[in-house]
Amino acid sequence: MSRLALFGITVVPFVFILVFWVVGSDKNKDSFVDIKVPELSDAARHGRTVLNGTCAACHGKDASGTDKGPPLIHPVYRPSHHADGAIHLAIANGVRQHHWNYGAMPPQPDIDKADIPAIIAFIREVQRANRIK
Ligand code: HEC
Repeated sequence: MSRLALFGITVVPFVFILVFWVVGSDKNKDSFVDIKVPELSDAARHGRTVLNGTCAACHGKDASGTDKGPPLIHPVYRPSHHADGAIHLAIANGVRQHHWNYGAMPPQPDIDKADIPAIIAFIREVQRANRIK
């Protein structure tokens, strides 16, 4: 057997397995998503300001993700999987780590309850504009 063939059947599969293992093991690989922010309603514009003031520390600008928290503009958070109630609960009680490897989310007591519908409006409008339904 030629050396090249030997290389092909030994080293090449090994490299593939290694690459898939490294990429596949990164549960947080979807952070820092590229998102498009559409023309927003008045409520969503207000929600954007609140979110970028408080939530962005972990969830990133316009909820696009950071190394401290997931993007909320993500199929995991589509309305049929995380309804609006989940957003209310997350702000009130925090969230235990379950979908990702960032750790837990602490409760957000500085958020005015009256602002929560606006935050939700922002998240849903941007999700829809990014084909997350
Ligand atoms: C200190 C970091 C941090 C801050 C600040 C933060 N979050 Fe989170 N949040 C997280 C992490 C981490 C998760 C993912 C937990 C998991 O599923 O593993 C999360 C998850 C969520 C979820 C999903 C809840 C669920 O049921 O799975 C929502 C909704 C959410 N955050 C909304 C917000 C909003 C709105 C704000 C601002 C008011 C905010 N977060 C501020 C870290 C943070």
